[in-house]
Amino acid sequence: MNIQIRPEYKNDISAISMINDMAFGQENEGNLIIKLRKNRNFIKDLSLVACMGNEIIGHILFSKIIIKNGNEEFESLALAPMSVIPELQGLGIGSELIKKGLQKATKLGYESVIVLGHENYYPKFKFTPASQFQITCPFEVPDANFMALELEKGSLKNVYGCVEYPKEFNDV
Ligand SMILES: CC(C)(COP(=O)(O)OP(=O)(O)OC[C@H]1O[C@@H](n2cnc3c(N)ncnc32)[C@H](O)[C@@H]1OP(=O)(O)O)[C@@H](O)C(=O)NCCC(=O)NCCS
Repeated sequence: MNIQIRPEYKNDISAISMINDMAFGQENEGNLIIKLRKNRNFIKDLSLVACMGNEIIGHILFSKIIIKNGNEEFESLALAPMSVIPELQGLGIGSELIKKGLQKATKLGYESVIVLGHENYYPKFKFTPASQFQITCPFEVPDANFMALELEKGSLKNVYGCVEYPKEFNDV
């Protein structure tokens, strides 16, 4: 399988929504991405698509978030959402999107990533429960599903607080 992973282009926008609608079986995530594009936390270089020839078959997005404790704020990234078209799931495309995304985020100088997701999947990429750091989720979730990753070793050592997602996430 010849898969290319690259940042989104302007004319990928409707395909990205469609892939999310197909993968999630609902329109919430596709609509979330449309709204996030207008938010200052959107990072165009970290909205990556997986392509097979000219066809887009997967997508991953990392957005800027803040980990907040009173007046103290620490910048981080949220990985969400990600999607691969149903017919091609389970073939490693999602893993490639994550690996490329983490590499690119590191290159861009980001130091950590937070994800709310499946407890058996993200640990493959060295995510661990955020509770192992001093980072909490703004809503109630099982400990194992709320995870963090240091892109730079030790970067979360002195980071503590609650994650503040862009307000667009509230509607999902
Ligand atoms: C999550 C997703 C993007 C992973 O892409 P993918 O190309 O299928 O992923 P990979 O082939 O790299 O890895 C598949 C593995 O992840 C597991 N997995 C990933 N996400 C999972 C989830 N939400 N629930 C259960 N298992 C999941 C699969 O069971 C499989 O496990 P295995 O390798 O032990 O067999 C894809 O499955 C998808 O679009 N799912 C629907 C949307 C979704 O749930 N997105 C994640 C939340 S933002």
